[in-house]
Amino acid sequence: MNNSLFLQTVLLFCSIYTTRSEVFTAIAGLEDLLQTESRLIHTLGNYIKDQGKNLEILKRYYQNYKNHYDKASKNVHLHVTNPINAYILIKKLTLDWKRVEVLITRSHNLEWKSRLKNIRKTMQFPTERDLDGALDALIRLQDTYRLDTAALARGEISGVKSSSELSADDCFQIGRKLYETGDNYHTQLWMKEADARLWEEGGTVRRSDILEYWAYSVYKQGNVSLALDLTNKLLEILPYHSRALRNKFYYEQELQNPVDKTKKDQDHVEDVEKEVYKKLCRAEISLPEAKSSKLKCFYQNSNHPFLRIAPFKVEQAHLDPDILIFHNVLSDCEIETMKQLAQSRLVTAVFENPHSKQLELFPFRISKVAWLEDQEHQHLAVVAQRVAHMTGLTLSTAEEFQVVNYGIGGHYEPHFDFQSTVDPAIGSRIETVLFYLSDVEQGGATVFPEIQVSVWPQKGSAVVWFNLHPSGDGDQRTKHAGCPVLIGSKWIATKWIHERGQEFLRPCT
Ligand SMILES: *[C@@H]1O[C@H](CO)[C@@H](O)[C@H](O)[C@H]1NC(C)=O
Repeated sequence: MNNSLFLQTVLLFCSIYTTRSEVFTAIAGLEDLLQTESRLIHTLGNYIKDQGKNLEILKRYYQNYKNHYDKASKNVHLHVTNPINAYILIKKLTLDWKRVEVLITRSHNLEWKSRLKNIRKTMQFPTERDLDGALDALIRLQDTYRLDTAALARGEISGVKSSSELSADDCFQIGRKLYETGDNYHTQLWMKEADARLWEEGGTVRRSDILEYWAYSVYKQGNVSLALDLTNKLLEILPYHSRALRNKFYYEQELQNPVDKTKKDQDHVEDVEKEVYKKLCRAEISLPEAKSSKLKCFYQNSNHPFLRIAPFKVEQAHLDPDILIFHNVLSDCEIETMKQLAQSRLVTAVFENPHSKQLELFPFRISKVAWLEDQEHQHLAVVAQRVAHMTGLTLSTAEEFQVVNYGIGGHYEPHFDFQSTVDPAIGSRIETVLFYLSDVEQGGATVFPEIQVSVWPQKGSAVVWFNLHPSGDGDQRTKHAGCPVLIGSKWIATKWIHERGQEFLRPCT
């Protein structure tokens, strides 16, 4: 018994030993190794294929970035003052670059990883919020100025072509964003454009996705028959798409038994004031003849003896309430000083939300603000003195100059200048003096919806009006707005003159 156990143990031991030592010579062992090699070849091949695909994609990105940059750098000003270019540039540096980073870091090459990190650290990058802001601006401009979607996608604004075009994928992304914000009217326009562009030049977006959003948004707009047509087209591509099948059934039911139309979302029916505001921005309405025929231009030489030598050239834009335009009241030199002083300390503007009365931040890139003291520079002191001459009021309780730069799509919704809370030591903002420090290529008017007045920015001129009735109550007719900048950049400087100190200069009733 003992012997046999011993023998077995020895045999077992030998057999293990033999197997291990003959791994490299036994035929069966070599077959195993070939399998390993086959696996390695397969893996390496896949890696090369994968990297090759990566490289192909990266090459396309490279070419795309390079073409874009070459075009843009030929005329930087033209490029950055156009809303489509702005959107595409920001998109290239946010969404697109993130994809590039993923493709590069996928190779797990530590050196490249750290190079990319370094670029992120040392260069300026827009954020996704900026991308949202650029998109909002684009849609606001389309809405305010009634820009045609197809023309926009071609990069054309009022007949001027920008250097960039939107692809089918861009249009789809824009449409999807609009869908998320519940703006079905614009969703439908952009999905239609995405479909047209996909048809013409291809893209990576799936037509079935476009059709689904498009159908749903036209349905929400109340066009059930078009929603059904589009859903049928979607079903031609994907016959078993379950949501589409359900919707088709639903749309057919609804076409047979129309439901109450008033239940439909009416997101494009807006209040009258907004409509008037937009029409003024588009210069579609102006003062009626009966009123405009009474307006005059004149030279103002009262208020100060010095004005008899150099009177102000004044144009009435409206009477009661008086809106006056002072032409050529700033020199280019003074304007440069103001812009330069402001430039280094422009910050995102805070404003009082007219609805909530809360202080809120303007979205980035919409507008930036800096405050300048009269005493900071001789030019500012001179301009402040000029404001006193223009208005005949004292500036002893006035605010500092507020300089604002509006970027593309930058705007200021209808608001009053008189505030809801007033410091009794200085009183409310009795008069506004708004200087234009730049021309604006397109858009950017200052409009007064209540009295249907539009004032167009002219570098060096100023628009002036009283915000308060002589009684001290706010004049509701002075509600005003800054229309979105369509092309260009808008600079203004404002001096708000307050009530206290004016008692003998503008006596109350
Ligand atoms: C629906 O849209 C189609 C295509 O744009 C149009 O021809 C039709 O008049 C619209 N129908 C309704 C009810 O709005």
